Amino acid sequence: MKTQIIISISLAFLLLNIPKTLSLSPAAAPAKPPPSSPAPAAQVAVTPGPLDVAKILDKAGRFTVFLRLLKSTQEDVELYQQLNETHNGATVFAPSDGAFSGLKAGTLNSLSDGDKSELVKYHIVPFFISSAQFQTVSNPLKTLAGSGKRFQLNVTTSDSMVNVTSGLTNATVSGIVYADDKVAIYQVDKVLLPMEIFAPKALAPAPAPPKSLKGEGADGPAVPKDASGAALGKTCFSPYKKYRDS
Ligand SMILES: *[C@@H]1O[C@H](CO)[C@@H](O)[C@H](O)[C@H]1NC(C)=O
Ligand SMILES: *[C@@H]1O[C@H](CO)[C@@H](O)[C@H](O)[C@H]1NC(C)=O
Ligand SMILES: *[C@@H]1O[C@H](CO)[C@@H](O)[C@H](O)[C@H]1NC(C)=O
Ligand SMILES: *[C@@H]1O[C@H](CO)[C@@H](O)[C@H](O)[C@H]1NC(C)=O
Repeated sequence: MKTQIIISISLAFLLLNIPKTLSLSPAAAPAKPPPSSPAPAAQVAVTPGPLDVAKILDKAGRFTVFLRLLKSTQEDVELYQQLNETHNGATVFAPSDGAFSGLKAGTLNSLSDGDKSELVKYHIVPFFISSAQFQTVSNPLKTLAGSGKRFQLNVTTSDSMVNVTSGLTNATVSGIVYADDKVAIYQVDKVLLPMEIFAPKALAPAPAPPKSLKGEGADGPAVPKDASGAALGKTCFSPYKKYRDS
């Protein structure tokens, strides 16, 4: 009997409290926005800054060496400002990390800061080239690096393949990292080595054999030697030598 009363009281208590609880609900509900309120944020002008190429390369993940060069030479800032100031866009040939590991050991370390800048600039064309435009673009391409024969960069295409050549390097465009209608970033499988930096300045014409050797027949040295004494016939092409020595 006692317990019944207690239960009843409890129930009554509960029942009494329900309306109270319910009555709270409408107040807690978010107020409907007045129909006339202006759409927020719609009027904030969206001014997209120029594309941050470094950021895109960073996201892509496989361009760490090129990105490091881009930053250490501050060419990333240069490119960013250029994109901001002109409407020509840009085309970047970004060598993958694999491309850099294909270089002779020490190649980058042997370069002066100025040459590093030129090397990076050589991979950037100061206008937009869509992948379709490779077929019709005229050689040589202008790059941000110095002009002149020894900074030429040419594109050749066949079927679906796009090659880029510096005269020293034949690289293939192996992917599109990014493209909108202003900026294209293409992955290349080799670091493009401009002749100006990596080819000996004046390939001296092979020295004429000394007169005394003429007619000496089989006994005479068959291979003339260069100043360093290395046989010219051997593979001694070392474009990096001058930087190591300086
Ligand atoms: C981009 O150019 C505008 C106008 O020329 C200038 O006001 C702005 O500071 C530039 N932004 C950068 C990041 O250089
Ligand atoms: C591009 O390079 C690839 C690989 O080196 C080569 O097989 C192909 O013939 C080249 N194509 C052109 C158009 O130069
Ligand atoms: C690039 O193309 C131009 C014009 O066809 C040519 O004169 C030059 O020798 C080429 N250079 C290289 C490095 O292929
Ligand atoms: C690049 O390609 C051209 C033409 O296909 C070829 O004559 C040249 O030897 C190649 N150079 C290198 C360094 O592979």
